Formats: sequence, C-alpha cells, structure tokens
Amino acid sequence: MSQLLNIETIDDFKAKAAALPHPREMVVDVLRAIQNSHGWVPDDGVELAAEILGIPPIEVEEVATFYDKIYRSPVGQKVIHVCDSICCWVRGSEEIYLYLQQKLGIAPGETTADGAFTLLPTCCLGACDQAPAMMIGFTTFGNLTPQRIDEILEQERL
Ligand code: FES
Repeated sequence: MSQLLNIETIDDFKAKAAALPHPREMVVDVLRAIQNSHGWVPDDGVELAAEILGIPPIEVEEVATFYDKIYRSPVGQKVIHVCDSICCWVRGSEEIYLYLQQKLGIAPGETTADGAFTLLPTCCLGACDQAPAMMIGFTTFGNLTPQRIDEILEQERL
C-alpha cells in the first residue's frame, strides 16, 4: 500500500490526524494526495487512508463515492467535468455535453482512446454567471460554445 504515498507523506498525515479531534476531516486531503500520486484511488488507497486516519475504511469510502472529484476507477490524463446543474442546464449544457461526446468520441464516464480525456458530469461549479460551464483540472471554463470547446480541447491536449 505504501507505494501510493511515500513514507514521509504518510507520517505527516498521521501526525496531523493525531492532533485533530475528528481525523475524518482529513479524508479528502489524504484521498487527493493518493490520487495525485497514482492518478485515481484504488481499493488499497481507501484502506491506506483509513489506516492513516485511524477510521474504518467504510467511512473513507463514503466520502470517496460522494465527492465526484475523487476517482475510484482509472481516468484519462485530464478529466472534463461538465456542469449539469440548473443554471447551466437552462443555458444549454445538454447541447454542450452532447457536443463534447461527439467531439471526443466517448460517452459520459468513458476515456478517449489516447487516454487524454475522461468525460464526467458534475454539479454546480460555482460559475453560474458564466453558464454553461465545465472544469478541467482546477480550471473552470465558462460561456461554452462548440467553437470555444474546440479551442479549449486543442489547448488542453498540449
Ligand atoms: Fe453550472 Fe452553477 S449551475 S456552474
């Protein structure tokens, strides 16, 4: 399990968790660290996070499956999260989502053959004033149109 995180990182998380009344608060931090080093969070990652935090694996799993930016199965190099909440929906997110599927040649939840992109829906990204919106990595892109998507994908493939 330890190859998912180096020993120093594990010890650092354990020390921080020991100082907290509720180590569960750190679940997302630990899962993110595992995901950053491994690309996604395998079952061993859930068990490792539970061991680090001293909580049952099921409590880690609950957070991992609730939080849609934690990936419990392999993803591409970049994950495109398309907002499907109300503001984006009324401003055409369905068409944007369909365009992305056609352009990438994949269905929601799938990864392109070259491993570059995975396409997933997500809830409100907090960019309702720029609806329709999507997020790639930590960057939010708004006011999406097919033309803008073409430009973004070209940039993001580099
Ligand atoms: Fe899409 Fe808020 S509803 S960003």
